[in-house]
Order: sequence, then C-alpha cells, then structure tokens
Amino acid sequence: MTYTTILFERRGRTALVTINRPEKLNALNAQCKAELRDLFTRLKTDPETDAVVLTGAGEKAFVAGTDIAELASLDALTGKEFASGGQAVFDLVQHLGKPVIAAVNGYALGGGCELALACHLRLASDRAKFGQPEVNLGIIPGYGGTQRLARLVGAGRAAEMILTGNTIDAQEAWRIGLVNRVVPLAELVASALELAGVITAKGQIAVRMALKAVNVSMEAPLSEGLTIEASLFGECCSTADFREGTAAFLEKRSPKFTAR
Ligand code: COA
Repeated sequence: MTYTTILFERRGRTALVTINRPEKLNALNAQCKAELRDLFTRLKTDPETDAVVLTGAGEKAFVAGTDIAELASLDALTGKEFASGGQAVFDLVQHLGKPVIAAVNGYALGGGCELALACHLRLASDRAKFGQPEVNLGIIPGYGGTQRLARLVGAGRAAEMILTGNTIDAQEAWRIGLVNRVVPLAELVASALELAGVITAKGQIAVRMALKAVNVSMEAPLSEGLTIEASLFGECCSTADFREGTAAFLEKRSPKFTAR
C-alpha cells in the first residue's frame, strides 16, 4: 500500500510513524485509518521493529480527531460500523505486542486523544492539549475513549472530560496520569525515541510478556490477571535472555540479550 497520509521512518529498531495531514490538523479520515491499519499489521510481525513512536506532523496537532467531514452522513447502522472500524485499528495499536509510544505534539482531541490512549506510553509536549469534545457534536467518543480514558485516569475524571468536552493542557494531563511526561516541543520526538531505545535495549521477550500482562490488567479481574502473570513469568524463565540477564547481574557485567 502506498501511504499518502502517514510517514514511516526507521530509527534503529524503532519505527517512527507520523500522521501527516497537517493542513487538517492530522484529522483521521478513512484513508488515514486504512493506512494505519496496514502499517501496524506489518509492524506487528516486522523482525526489524521492536518499538513504535507515533506522532503528528507540524507543531499544532497530534490528531485533532476523526475527520468531521466524514461523520456528518452517518446513521445508526453506519455509525456503529464507523465506531467498530476505528476501534479495530486502535485495538491493533494496543495489541501490537511491541511498545507504542505516543509523542503528543499538539492537539489530541476526540479520536486523537483515543489514539494516544491506545498507545502504551504517552509523552506530551508542553503545547499539547487533550480533550474528548464529541459531546459538542452530539455524539460520544467511539474509538475506545469512554473505556480507556476511564481505566487510565478514573471514571470521575474521564466523565468530566467526556461530559463537558473541555480541553486540558499538558500539565493537567500529567497531573491526572493521562501522560507519563511533559517535555519541550523541540525535544519531544527525541525524548520518545530515547525512551523507546531504553526499552529496545532490554530482553525483548520479557518486554513483550510484560506488555501482554499489562494489557490483561485493563480487562481481566485481578485473580485472572495474576494467573496469567504467573504463566508469562514462567515462560520468561525458559528463555536464554533470562539466563543471560541473571548471569550478567551475578557476574557484574551488562547483559547481552538475544530475544531467545
Ligand atoms: N475534522 C476535519 N477537519 C478538521 C478537524 C477535524 N476533526 N479539526 C480541524 N480540521 C480542519 C479545519 O476544518 C481547518 O480546515 P480548513 O482550513 O480547510 O477550514 C483546518 O483543519 C485547521 O483547523 P482550524 O479549526 O482552522 O484551526 P484552529 O486553530 O482555529 O482550531 C481546533 C483548532 C483543534 C480547536 C479546531 O480545529 C477544532 O475544534 N477541531 C475539531 C476538534 C474536534 O471536535 N475533534 C473531535 C472530532 S470527533
């Protein structure tokens, strides 16, 4: 597939993906969602990619939402399909099996906030703004926002954002746990790539098992999550990376992980 709305670059073992419709504040249209689906499907099994950084082109927006021009003609049936289709793309991000870091440069509104929520880590520039303004359009978040936002920041804070449609700035997003860090805009992508580099230097089997376990915590009751955690822990104990990691510690040297 030829990409016209996203850019893809390799930075070591990290894929840098940029949503690239700056003239429309990177609003997600059907083409953009199809391209994201295609690229993330490839990245899932790409042996050269251990992590992804996702950002928006330009200084103004990460993603200012779903493309409102494509919303206007929806009815009950097509609306449900529209939401399910977007959810499927964002599920692909959450279940990529490799860490995805959102580098939120500017507006992350509606589907843009939901896209950041589907990522595993979120870095925000000091100019970023987050919001779920769907209520202003007579709809609700439909790409996972009502579920992932509440799980991340708590139902009360999620309800305030979703019911008022109010936008919050990066500092407030950090205060409520919506983002991991706030950095100056000029350092944002470099910081996200550096964070990705810290993770890609670890044993990749352990990183993937850990991601799987953390994903389960979003959905399963504690008892089920603990059972899955124990199984994944056991799987890690059968790897060469585990033997290398423990041996390196005991021999006071840096480990050389091989993802085996
Ligand atoms: N869908 C489609 N187009 C969008 C868009 C969206 N979600 N967000 C911005 N755009 C377009 C604008 O229509 C405009 O296009 P034009 O130049 O062809 O008229 C362009 O991007 C620039 O946006 P503009 O509104 O002029 O910028 P601004 O700085 O005045 O305002 C925002 C920025 C983010 C506050 C404003 O664009 C906005 O409210 N966007 C919609 C946010 C939203 O409701 N998202 C949830 C959708 S479910």
